Amino acid sequence: MVTEMSERIRQLPKAEVHIHLEGSIPPATARQWAAEAGVDLGHGNPFVVTGGLSEFLQLLDRICSLARTPEQLADLAYGFSRHVVDSGAHYADVIVNPTHWGAWRHDVPGLVTGLDAGFGRAESDGLPPVGVCVSLLRSQTASEASDLVDTLIELGSPRVVALSVDGNEVASGSTYERFADAFQRAGAAGLRRTVHAGESSGAEAVRKAVELLGADRIDHGVRAIEDEAVVALLVERGIPLAVCPSSNLTLGLYRTLAEHPIDALRRRGVAVCVNTDDPALLEIDLVGEYQRCVEAFGWSDDDLRDVARVSIDASFAPDDVKRTLVTSLERS
Ligand code: ADE
Ligand code: ZN
Repeated sequence: MVTEMSERIRQLPKAEVHIHLEGSIPPATARQWAAEAGVDLGHGNPFVVTGGLSEFLQLLDRICSLARTPEQLADLAYGFSRHVVDSGAHYADVIVNPTHWGAWRHDVPGLVTGLDAGFGRAESDGLPPVGVCVSLLRSQTASEASDLVDTLIELGSPRVVALSVDGNEVASGSTYERFADAFQRAGAAGLRRTVHAGESSGAEAVRKAVELLGADRIDHGVRAIEDEAVVALLVERGIPLAVCPSSNLTLGLYRTLAEHPIDALRRRGVAVCVNTDDPALLEIDLVGEYQRCVEAFGWSDDDLRDVARVSIDASFAPDDVKRTLVTSLERS
């Protein structure tokens, strides 16, 4: 339902910085890919999220492996840029994990090039710019991480803004020591670094993401609240958290939004912004996520503007894009 509040939120200049391409594929697109590949998806909705993070990640594998051609990638990217503007954002960092994409898991340049064609076409049609954060899966080895960094450095695509790591920490154990070298080399080569931590893992993982992986931003990070010293570390270093409230509820971290620590983290001085994680699969949108926080925590217009400002500052957008967004936020 469109309300005065939802319109205010939609118009607020902001960025979305924690959104997975794999979780943003419209079911109709996946059905079309299945038809084109001659795959029978059977009866019922094959895109329903059941179980926890492990089942969820397997679902992403099944959906993404239906895509086979560069044209499908370009169309998906174009549609994603349209989704960004429809959801009230003016820039997005999108996380892309090659391991989910059966046809490209050993061809990262092909994956990036296919997507870049669609993002570039969208931008020339006036849709928002999108930066790609290429992600390691938590269960990969140190040598796979090193190979991915080599590939990204060799590719040198301006579309790729960051190295990321996502996946299930409970199932894979701590991977910070294993990936430290790859993240160090990525940082030295000019890539930014964003790390999923403090979702399936606790506060100690957030500390390691900062200290061992040099994270510029933490995806989720909410379980930092479990250790005051980690909260203090985030405040001191100004490291933002890209929080996804509904995703955390769906995947069972908290029972209700009232119990979710996003507001408590803000009040302790941590830079937090609001994001959707996997909007198509969770059937949510960015405006709805901001609105739920307003309802749960009584956020004022100033609070909304602060959170929108964090989203812009936390993004890996080019400086001129950031400046334009901040100026229009200040005037809004
Ligand atoms: N990949 C897609 N969504 C994810 C999430 N919520 N946590 C970890 N990896 C993911
Ligand atoms: Zn995520």
